[in-house]
Amino acid sequence: MKIRFEDYNVEGEFEEGVTVLEASRRLGVDLESICGGKGICGKCKVHVVSSMEPIPRVSPAEERLLSRDELDRGVRLACLLRPRGSLVVRVPLWSRRRVQRLQVEGLEVGVPLKPLTRKVLLEIPPASLEDQEPDDDRLLRELERQGYKGVKVSPNALGRLPDSLREGDWRVTAVLFNGEVVEVEPGDTRRELYGAAVDLGSTKIAYYLVDLATGKLVHVESMVNPQREYGEDIMTRMTYTNRGRRELSRLHRAAVEALNELTRRACKAAGIGLNRVYEMVVVGNTVMHHFLHGFTTRYLSLSPYVQAARRPITVDAGRLGVRINPGGKLHTLPTIRSFVGADNVAVCLSAGIFEAEEPTLILDIGTNTEIDFGSGEHGVYATSTPSGPAFEGWATKWGMTASEGAIERASINPYTYEVSYRTIGGEPPRGICGSGFIDLLAELVKCGLIGPRPGFAASRDAERLRRGEKGMEFVVAWADETGVGEDIVVTQEDINELVKAKAAIHAAITLLLDHVGVEESRIERLLLAGAFGSYMDAENAQTIGLLPELDLEKVIPIGNAAGTGARIALLNEDERAKAEEISRKVRFIELATHPKFVREYVNSMYLPYKDLKKYPRTAEILAKLAEK
Ligand code: FES
Repeated sequence: MKIRFEDYNVEGEFEEGVTVLEASRRLGVDLESICGGKGICGKCKVHVVSSMEPIPRVSPAEERLLSRDELDRGVRLACLLRPRGSLVVRVPLWSRRRVQRLQVEGLEVGVPLKPLTRKVLLEIPPASLEDQEPDDDRLLRELERQGYKGVKVSPNALGRLPDSLREGDWRVTAVLFNGEVVEVEPGDTRRELYGAAVDLGSTKIAYYLVDLATGKLVHVESMVNPQREYGEDIMTRMTYTNRGRRELSRLHRAAVEALNELTRRACKAAGIGLNRVYEMVVVGNTVMHHFLHGFTTRYLSLSPYVQAARRPITVDAGRLGVRINPGGKLHTLPTIRSFVGADNVAVCLSAGIFEAEEPTLILDIGTNTEIDFGSGEHGVYATSTPSGPAFEGWATKWGMTASEGAIERASINPYTYEVSYRTIGGEPPRGICGSGFIDLLAELVKCGLIGPRPGFAASRDAERLRRGEKGMEFVVAWADETGVGEDIVVTQEDINELVKAKAAIHAAITLLLDHVGVEESRIERLLLAGAFGSYMDAENAQTIGLLPELDLEKVIPIGNAAGTGARIALLNEDERAKAEEISRKVRFIELATHPKFVREYVNSMYLPYKDLKKYPRTAEILAKLAEK
């Protein structure tokens, strides 16, 4: 019999008795299977499109793990489905295996190539005793002849001009940035034109080296933001810099040195010289933006929370100490408000929020979570909420960033409470990252080990549930299986931190939609930006009330959209103008003073939510649990 995976366009011949999960593995289809095919995690969902023979009956485990709606639509668990005849299936987006990569990815950039930096080859008549015209006049005359009128020459280019003309035997390449010659190089160097797009995150920095002559991405680098030495979260860093100029300059230097280190690494990997990088577009939240420019952040955190600059800024990179070509420029995209920065403008740019006709919600979860809503009918709105570092792997006992050894996916057997998990890189576990915490929280709910309130059900008879130093805790991995020689646990305190973070995000989404006057059910696309959004399990995030309970097909991970937006702005000058427009036109909703915020936050402190009517699928799971 044949089993065909329609959306992968692969099929194979299989013996009777094989499960669809086994077939997927043999065909190289990356179907999720956290429990390893034991029928426990419920993640190996496939959609049966057609079958030659009657499909085997739904098993009790499927009854338990799939919702009524899914069963009605022909969704089955691949590890439990043993077809009797040829079968065609589809793999829903959220059942595809997504392994966290340490590298930062984003959407492919599909914009026309129109960079602000360009190169022009010039053949200049040599000077002689008969023709003693100065070098700059010669250069400008030739540029004018090629159609570049009214061009200025920067001091850097003037300094380089005499030697370059003679070294190149009067054949030079002029580098132009926005109507100004910023560099003159001997010979024809037109093929070597590079720029960098940077997402300067408070936790992680993603660096994209781009070929501006072809538009191709040449190399990606990333590193942990070295400013973390001065505080895990941006509030601590701001408090530090508010002490004085010296402290501010330390944070500024840390950002600049990180940019220099990433440029050095990327250029080395790509085999190009630093002086062939002519431009850098940087996005980051408003605090990162201010640190990079050396602006005080004092007034960002004080009422009425005003940033120093909304407009885009272009400076000589060298003035900030950023080492690229000496004539190179550094550009930061505009900001929106004190806590909605250039990174959010870049996200909106890459997601095309202003062009979105249907109601679209964008969520970028981090220590500070930014939320955007846009539709043709309503316009574009943004808000932000401090959501704490719990999902970033901090403020929890065994929390860690998404790096080697972090538990990134997990499931719990509802009968034996055994835990299946997967770690990044397949290493013995060293801790738990944000996506792992979402799974664990959802699984604990589904097993009835934590209640909606949300406290551990101390009365449950489970070996893994025990009293620790600071109250109840659940053992995720026993000491002998970990890479740290200790039991890795989730404590009640961790759960409180995670629930606070999710409540802040949930309340912000609800109030934003309430302000715009759009029902949650009308959202047609929920775009998850950032690494965390891309790797978490959306269904589990719904189970705990972090995401609205929309049809999963409408929930789309878009990777590092801020980095993608920075690349778009680097590649196309018109998009930079669009970024300016976004920063001016987005309507910002302030939540800090919103009269309903506290009430909504308190209602969101439940798992998934105080009123279960808002979460019918989770209500169904809880009802099934009660029947058990
Ligand atoms: S792999 Fe099928 S339920 Fe876990």
